[in-house]
Amino acid sequence: MIEFTLNGKTVSTNDSPDTPLLWVVRDTFKLKGSKFGCGAGLCGACTMHVDGAATKTCVLPVGAVAGKAVLTIEGLGTPDNLHPLQAAWHELSVPQCGYCQSGQIMAAAALLATNPHPDAQAVEAAMAGNICRCGCYTRIKRAILEVAGSNLAYDATRTQPATEASA
Ligand code: FES
Ligand code: FES
Repeated sequence: MIEFTLNGKTVSTNDSPDTPLLWVVRDTFKLKGSKFGCGAGLCGACTMHVDGAATKTCVLPVGAVAGKAVLTIEGLGTPDNLHPLQAAWHELSVPQCGYCQSGQIMAAAALLATNPHPDAQAVEAAMAGNICRCGCYTRIKRAILEVAGSNLAYDATRTQPATEASA
């Protein structure tokens, strides 16, 4: 049995340790926001945070996250308590088909957690591993930079799951 923290709650699974974390999260725990794209660590659609780091989970065995903290798009924010990036995504109508977008937001959130005010070059470097087949790169970058330079009161370093208490 493998035990880890998923969006702030301790969970356990009897899935084989070599099962990709993405499938465990989607199929065992029924959180479908993280997507399968390439299955080879190349597109970023499956990006989650593992102990705060943006991680491509299609190539990460669940056994590797034993005792660690996994955060998915479902834990980053809620409709009543959006992460600033989610609010910016909405405000700027970033997505087209949407398939890549949870991975994009999770990658951006990991960046802002370590560097709350990145410049354009830092954003491009951090987001280079996340592909968008719809070509929404300009809006993705604009949304991240808007949050990075925002005067709004927010905690860009938020890496813990959104809770009612923090709403
Ligand atoms: S599905 Fe994981 S990187 Fe493409
Ligand atoms: S919005 Fe369609 S792949 Fe990115």
